[in-house]
Amino acid sequence: MVTDKQRIVTIDGPSGGGKSTVSRELAAKLHFTYLDTGAMYRAVAFQCREQGIDPVDDRRLESLLTLLRIKLLPPVPGEEDVRVLVDDQEVGSQLRTPEMGMLASKVSALPRVRHTLTRLQQAMGADGSIVAEGRDTGTVVFPAAAWKFFLDASPEVRARRRAAQLRRKGELVDEQQLLAQIIQRDKDDRERSIAPLKAAPDALAINSTGLSVEEVVRRMYATILAAPCCGER
Ligand code: DC
Repeated sequence: MVTDKQRIVTIDGPSGGGKSTVSRELAAKLHFTYLDTGAMYRAVAFQCREQGIDPVDDRRLESLLTLLRIKLLPPVPGEEDVRVLVDDQEVGSQLRTPEMGMLASKVSALPRVRHTLTRLQQAMGADGSIVAEGRDTGTVVFPAAAWKFFLDASPEVRARRRAAQLRRKGELVDEQQLLAQIIQRDKDDRERSIAPLKAAPDALAINSTGLSVEEVVRRMYATILAAPCCGER
């Protein structure tokens, strides 16, 4: 019986690998809470833009982070994304654009931002029973998580999925531009010096290129059931 593990699932990987849908569905199946850490980086990026702060070169970032109040709520029924409240204001849909993804990637390379959000995420997961999704949840945020996965797929497949997702929301999409952004963001996320995107050594890697969401969720669920933690049978 493993006792030093946290009752937490982490799902890391590059953008568009299907993490969000898979994490949300797995969380529902396990009756766990879904923690979308990327939404928190997007919220910081959004606040920087709202307040005209250049995150790399502005001392006001410090007070922004000190005063930051982020709340994540489950998606509205029928919607895909978690609801994000910043200072009690709902900002959700404005966070999901490719541009906000690029800015989030930029702010996420800053140690001060990572430190603040990592501590917030750890507080949110303190009681366990969460599925955390991001880039460093298995390596940095919850290194003692009982179940870790790394979900990847080819950049082309990821761009196609992301384009379909944006189209469902009624947005016009240039798939080639999306692919270029995905490749650039992967590179930035993988090469940054602090908490880079990478699989934890004890994560199970799953390539979702030829798999449906249901297959990925089934595979993860079976892995979790086969390795109970924290005194469960
Ligand atoms: O998962 P996403 O596309 O919403 O994430 C947006 C950006 O936030 C991503 O490019 C990198 C950053 N991020 C991070 O650095 N660490 C995380 N745990 C989650 C996201």
